[in-house]
Amino acid sequence: MRVERASRTLGARVQGVDLGRPLDADTFDSVRDALNRHSVLVFPEQEVEPPAQVEFSARFGRLKHHVLKENLLPGMPEIYVLTNMTSQNEVAPRPYAGAYWHTDLSYEAEPAFGSVMYAVEVPEVGGDTMFCSMAAAWDALSERMKALLEGLTATHSFEHAYETFVKHIPGTAPIDRRRFDARPPVTHPLVHTHPESGRRCLYVNPGFTERINELPPAEGEAILAFLYEHCTSERFVYRHRWSRHDVVMWDNRATMHKAVPDYDDGDSRYMRRTTIAGSAPRG
Ligand code: OGA
Ligand code: MN
Repeated sequence: MRVERASRTLGARVQGVDLGRPLDADTFDSVRDALNRHSVLVFPEQEVEPPAQVEFSARFGRLKHHVLKENLLPGMPEIYVLTNMTSQNEVAPRPYAGAYWHTDLSYEAEPAFGSVMYAVEVPEVGGDTMFCSMAAAWDALSERMKALLEGLTATHSFEHAYETFVKHIPGTAPIDRRRFDARPPVTHPLVHTHPESGRRCLYVNPGFTERINELPPAEGEAILAFLYEHCTSERFVYRHRWSRHDVVMWDNRATMHKAVPDYDDGDSRYMRRTTIAGSAPRG
């Protein structure tokens, strides 16, 4: 197994591993170490059937079933299908999923540890995914700013992303209110310690973070806007240009990510994703 860094602060390409079959324990440990070190791993040219994707992902932890049940692979609810087209070649009910900076499931008390995504079909142009390092972004803050942020908490909700971004995307089907009511907002520390690498990481995201709990709204909004600008600046970003049959795995505890919805209408992008359960971030 060879690991080559893909940018200065995060991301690595992993060669010499076949995810289509079970990994031996040493290889698996090396993959987990690489994930803790680089936060985003790209495995090019993989042949991964859904059961193998589930098997590999489940070695990292229990798998989650996504809240949008209609997007699960029939007969295999661990696999969430992200696609812009339906099987009838029509525009899918939720095109351009995740086209805003977010961390998966931060609106849950125990957010996702990470995700594994397999590119079945990629558009001819566009449709990249951007990732940023919340560890490198934290490290680069001044001591004054760190001192201000330490000990703060933020409220996260699923509804926030819907109200702020998702509902404005043309073609988005409305979401039943009861889905929001079933997911009341949660509180997380604004900076947490990564449970494996031990690095301090910012833990807020434009998608799901509603507010900083301990500050007046205007101050909290200004600080969040600054943090989002800071975290997503080029020096902390790895932008993945997908090739068909790439597997990309990311660590939600140390990153945000964003889909770039710039491909042609009618050009198919079809991804299979598994989501690994995680623990509550600890300040
Ligand atoms: C996701 C996601 C981004 C993409 O699967 O969680 O945000 O580029 N995907 O599809
Ligand atoms: Mn996502």
